[in-house]
Amino acid sequence: MKKQNLIQLQKDYRAAQKCLIGFNVNDIYDMKAVALAAEEANCPVMVMTYPPVVELNSSYLCKKMLEGIQPYTKQPIYLHLDHSVSVDMCKKAIDDGYDSVMIDGSQKSLKENIAMTKEVTRYAESSGVLVEAEIGKIMGRGVVIKSDDDFLASVADVKAIVEEANPHIMAVGIGTAHGFTPTTPKIHFDRLLEIAEAIPNPLVLHGGTGIPDLDIQKAITMGVAKLNVGTIVHTTYMKELYKEMGKDLNAAYPPFLMKDVIPRIKDVVLNRLEAVNFKRALSHKVCKF
Ligand code: 13P
Repeated sequence: MKKQNLIQLQKDYRAAQKCLIGFNVNDIYDMKAVALAAEEANCPVMVMTYPPVVELNSSYLCKKMLEGIQPYTKQPIYLHLDHSVSVDMCKKAIDDGYDSVMIDGSQKSLKENIAMTKEVTRYAESSGVLVEAEIGKIMGRGVVIKSDDDFLASVADVKAIVEEANPHIMAVGIGTAHGFTPTTPKIHFDRLLEIAEAIPNPLVLHGGTGIPDLDIQKAITMGVAKLNVGTIVHTTYMKELYKEMGKDLNAAYPPFLMKDVIPRIKDVVLNRLEAVNFKRALSHKVCKF
């Protein structure tokens, strides 16, 4: 299947109320699980590498891993650098052939966030690589929140970064949290709607592991065209591997263990693809759902 330019795909998705899922991956095994799920679900996917994966393996190697995995599906797999706080890491990923990078200046002042984002969008311009920026904060993982104002994306700030730095898609803090949360995150749909009315850019929802399906589906109807899912992928990987290893640690041989672990990661990925492809599920036209 032809790999459509991601910037255009995201625009089309927002217009059609569709959503691409970016899955955080760490190596060839979970990447392969995502590819197999994409093939089964019959829809494009994104694999995303967090900075520690890039620091350990290099963006060059991550790109090569994807090239090796792509033949497992006819569906396009887009490669994304997730939550990079480093402009240089974004530039290197662009040079190494990533389809998409996120420059995360959300912990900085608006002025610094705009400046960092602008530097990356300018650098990405000639390559056609998509740039994601963030306003507001995604809770969890040490992000301390005292009141709604600490995390909730301000409409004025979102407009300012879009107008001045020109990122293609916008991650917005609207109440979601990274990872498993003790209580269901309360999503501020009113703010999401205000943002969607203020800017035409496709919006990104982070913290996909803990968001109920109905909330995901509602957000998609309000301009969310990309959903990030990470924790459920890597905890499934680790727990299932641990289970398999525990059967006979002295005989633990990676290819034999991974043969059983990959399909279980694939099932989790498939389950999330099912959640965003709910319209196809209702029509029963295109895919198996
Ligand atoms: P989860 O780990 O909650 O799925 O969130 C992933 C994410 O938002 C990565 O950017």
